[in-house]
Amino acid sequence: MPIVTSKKMFEDAYKGGYAIGAFNVNNMEIIQGITEAAKELQAPLILQVSSGARKYANHTYLMKLIEAACIETDLPICVHLDHGDTFELCKSCIDGGFSSVMIDGSHHSYEDNVKLTRRVVEYAHDHGVVVEGELGRLEGVEDEVKVAEGEGSYTDPDQVQDFVSRTGVDSLAIAIGTSHGAYKFKPGTKPQLRFDILKEVERRLPGFPIVLHGASSVIPEFVEQINQYGGEMPDAIGVPEDMLREAAKMAVCKINIDSDLRLAMTATIRKYFAENPSHFDPRQYLKPAREAIKAMVARKIVDVLGCNGKA
Ligand code: G3H
Ligand code: 13P
Ligand code: ZN
Repeated sequence: MPIVTSKKMFEDAYKGGYAIGAFNVNNMEIIQGITEAAKELQAPLILQVSSGARKYANHTYLMKLIEAACIETDLPICVHLDHGDTFELCKSCIDGGFSSVMIDGSHHSYEDNVKLTRRVVEYAHDHGVVVEGELGRLEGVEDEVKVAEGEGSYTDPDQVQDFVSRTGVDSLAIAIGTSHGAYKFKPGTKPQLRFDILKEVERRLPGFPIVLHGASSVIPEFVEQINQYGGEMPDAIGVPEDMLREAAKMAVCKINIDSDLRLAMTATIRKYFAENPSHFDPRQYLKPAREAIKAMVARKIVDVLGCNGKA
C-alpha cells in the first residue's frame, strides 16, 4: 500500500474512540520492530521522523526503509515530520515524500505561530500533505530545543478555535501536562494531566483530532532493567497508561511515543552485553532489541491505543 495521510485514520479513530500510535523512527531495526507488530495486529500506523532523526540517518535512507515497510506490511502508513520548526524544513520533507508534517510554532508568539503555521499549511495542502500545529508548550528536550522545567505552558482553550480556523491545520497538539523524555513527573508526586483542558478543547473543536506529545509511559520494567545492568535512571517516570487510554477515548487521535522505544532498545542491549560480554556482532544484540520493540509496540496497540484491527 502506498504511503497515506492521517486524514482517514483520524476520522475513524475519533469516531471509534481509539488513537493511532505515532512512533519515532531512527533506523532499520526500530522501523522493523514497529511495523512487524502493526502488521500482525492490522493496526494503522504513523511513523514520525524528527529533524534529529533526519540528521542521524539521512532523509532518503529513512524514506526508503519506510517504503520497504509499506511493501512488507501492506498497511496504511503515514510518514510524518515530528516538530518541524521552520517552513524550509517542512517544505523539504513535503518535497521529499512525507504525507504529514508538524510545524511546531509553540516557541513563538501566538501571532507568529499563526503566521508560520498558515504558511506551511498553504504549501502542504497544495501538495496533498496534512499539517499538525501546536498550541501550548511541553517541557523537555526535542532536538536542540530544551524547554526548562517551569517554562512549559498549558494550552489555552480560548485560543484553539481561532488558531485552527486561521491556520487551516488538520490536527492540533496541545499541552495538558505531558512532557518529552523519561522524566515527566517529580518522584513521590502523583502524575496528573489537565483533562479539564482536553475536555474544553474538545467542546470548542467538535470532531477535530487532537495530538498528545510526550506520551511515553516510561515502562518501569525497562527502567528497572537499565538500572540493573549498569544504567542510572533512578527517577524516570512516565504518563500512566490508564490516562492515555482515557485520552484515546476522548478527542486524542494521535499518541506520540519515542522514549519507550529508546528504553526498550537500551534495556535489551544492556542486558545482552551483561550476559554476553565477549560478543561483538551487531546482529546478535540488535535482534533482541528489535524483538523488544515489537513486543512493546504490540502491547501498546492492544492495551493502550486500541487501534488493533483498524487498518
Ligand atoms: O519530541 C521529541 C522526540 O522524542 C524526538 O526526539 O529530536 O531527539 O529525535 P529527537
Ligand atoms: P516521549 O518522549 O514521551 O516518547 O514523547 C515523544 C514525542 O512527543 C515525540 O514528538
Ligand atoms: Zn513531541
